[in-house]
Amino acid sequence: MDFGYPWWLSYGHTAVAVPALLLAWAGWRRGWSKWLLAPLCALALWAGAAQAVVLLVIRPDVVPPMPTASFLASGEGRVLDIGAGTGRSTIMLLRERPRARAVASDLFGDSFDHHFGHGGSPQERLMRNLRAAGVADRATVATADMRQLPFAAGEFDGVVSAFAMDHLNREGSAQAVREAARVLKPGGEFLLMLVYNEPWARFSYGPMISHGGYRGGPWWYGQLREAGFEVAESGTQPLTMWFWARRK
Ligand SMILES: C[S@@+](CC[C@H](N)C(=O)[O-])C[C@H]1O[C@@H](n2cnc3c(N)ncnc32)[C@H](O)[C@@H]1O
Repeated sequence: MDFGYPWWLSYGHTAVAVPALLLAWAGWRRGWSKWLLAPLCALALWAGAAQAVVLLVIRPDVVPPMPTASFLASGEGRVLDIGAGTGRSTIMLLRERPRARAVASDLFGDSFDHHFGHGGSPQERLMRNLRAAGVADRATVATADMRQLPFAAGEFDGVVSAFAMDHLNREGSAQAVREAARVLKPGGEFLLMLVYNEPWARFSYGPMISHGGYRGGPWWYGQLREAGFEVAESGTQPLTMWFWARRK
């Protein structure tokens, strides 16, 4: 599977660690001052450790684990993935809930090709990944703006949105949360996952991955409540803040 995330998210630290180490080694051979060598060694050490954290803990280019067993515990139902992108969240859902069906929706706009472009149309790339994961027979693809979803009220048993609603500004995010509530049946479930600068992410990426960070948990919690959700669980996992909510 190719989720098309930029290479530096997964391997950028190696591109820092190796030159820093080589330069420190060359400098040591030539007798550079310790004031020059010490920061180079520190940079190489941090970049090496951060690379290990990215590959072993954060794993940005791998299907994330579903953060809670409570979401769609019945294991079945029709679920809308909002901002499905190249399919990581749809695959997470369909693998972990093997009787569920999904509509994988995305705007598939210009930024999609810019950030997630590796051959074929965005919809083809998404379907390719769903086929490779063996879940394509339970999924359909729809082009949809999350701020104005082209679905009827109460159409879905569940909604998933992973690392997508925090791409929008406050007004857009609030609209998207309200739309998620509208398309859910009463009692329907919403799993919202957002990029979160938790300690592993801060150590590895510093302030580089900050979308959503400015708003924080209480802001999202407030939007969910205003849209008519009851938040039943919330928590964090590497790179992720998540909420499991039910439509009242
Ligand atoms: C970081 S990707 C997340 C993809 C996937 N959910 C995952 O977990 O890897 C964010 C996605 O949100 C989509 N997106 C951004 N604005 C959108 C909008 N207004 N409506 C629908 N999708 C949008 C982008 O096209 C992109 O595919």
